[in-house]
Amino acid sequence: MKERKFQFSYKILKDIGELNENDAALLQQARKVTKKAYAPYSRFNVACAAKLENGRTVIGTNQENASYPVGICAERALLATVGTQYTDEPIETLAITYHALDGESNHPISPCGMCRQALTEYERRTGKPIRLILSGMEGDIYIVNSAKDLLPLAFSNEDLGKDD
Ligand code: THU
Repeated sequence: MKERKFQFSYKILKDIGELNENDAALLQQARKVTKKAYAPYSRFNVACAAKLENGRTVIGTNQENASYPVGICAERALLATVGTQYTDEPIETLAITYHALDGESNHPISPCGMCRQALTEYERRTGKPIRLILSGMEGDIYIVNSAKDLLPLAFSNEDLGKDD
């Protein structure tokens, strides 16, 4: 029998003041964009802002629906935009934040399982890691080096035999 261990490290910052200028601007933008979320059912507005390798910034928000499963998370909304407007352009950094309309927004959230799968595939597709800045509207911030760190043993195109 063999045993393998999965480990990853991430950084914990006290607040936005500890980020460098570019990261702070990206996070500020994501925080502002929470207003564009359409989340009348959960009242949990999620927003993200991506800095692409080509210098462009793309934003995304969650968009819900009265038929609940139809709703899409902010991260996958963003990936659809990046994939369409800037096809195959690497994402250097993705800031993810939320504004809980009925509660506190002072601790980081991290992407749901479905979004981890989607982010990981975008990394594979571009061959570049996506650095994640995770936060709320205030308080602690986590920095994760790559989305794949959040999805050990991920299912991928390799498993389908389609990794050319
Ligand atoms: N949501 C996101 O947009 N991203 C996440 O990473 C977690 C959850 C959305 C889905 C739903 O619209 C609302 O947050 C509450 O789950």
